[in-house]
Amino acid sequence: MEIRIATLSENTANLGFLAEWGLSILVEFNGIMVLVDTGSTFSAAHNAQLMGIDLATIDCIVLSHGHADHTGGLREVLRLKGEVEVIAHPDIWTAKYTRRGQQSVRYNGMPFSRKELESLGARFKFAREPVHITENILTTGEIPMISGYEEIENNLFVRKAGKLHPDPLADDLALIIDTEFGLVVILGCAHRGIVNTVRHAQNLTGKELVYAVIGGTHLVRSSEERIEKTIADLKEIGIQRLGVSHCTGFKASARLSQEFEDTFFMNNSGTRITLP
Ligand SMILES: [Fe+2]
Ligand SMILES: [Fe+2]
Repeated sequence: MEIRIATLSENTANLGFLAEWGLSILVEFNGIMVLVDTGSTFSAAHNAQLMGIDLATIDCIVLSHGHADHTGGLREVLRLKGEVEVIAHPDIWTAKYTRRGQQSVRYNGMPFSRKELESLGARFKFAREPVHITENILTTGEIPMISGYEEIENNLFVRKAGKLHPDPLADDLALIIDTEFGLVVILGCAHRGIVNTVRHAQNLTGKELVYAVIGGTHLVRSSEERIEKTIADLKEIGIQRLGVSHCTGFKASARLSQEFEDTFFMNNSGTRITLP
């Protein structure tokens, strides 16, 4: 059984498509269409139309976390789809902020109220645990941080009682497709670490074989040490396709490309792949 993956929104774009900072990936497996994230604004809806994809036909939406560059396209998608299940961790509603250097903090959380999204058709299913969409398609739920070297970036905060606290990003999750040719893991930002995410997918499914990892890896601004450890662990895991997007950053993308050669690809707006 094949998986078809179409990247609807990403920081860079293939010819003719729109790019914006953010991510949105549509996965089709066994007749079920799952939209992972929605980009920042309207590029996912726009690019889907260019790709001949009717977003009214998706079966559910998974939000990888609450950051606006993954949830900001929800309004446009819901306008096209209407009523649909939206699977997410309850912490997507925490007030999320980002700080860069000494600059002032910027709100980077969910840009819509729950009420507005529900009025447009969102039927939220909140869970801290994995959620099975079908027998072979599931979310990771909360991702344990076990690798020992993957940390959440220190410029991410939540505001509670008027004070900023480091954001534990408990809401960070990924989508797992458990196929006969191995696991396929679709990442949002992988704030909790790409290796932690993949190891969690293996533990949850009891399957060792990982065929593909696709999406944001959040290695942008990571130390060389972390990038090298990530490469070593991904090689040990033995993935056969690595499609990076979004918050991977140029430096890590270049290193991963060098190491993984033909296994590696840049997963941009307009990228369509069929696995295996
Ligand atoms: Fe994020
Ligand atoms: Fe992001």
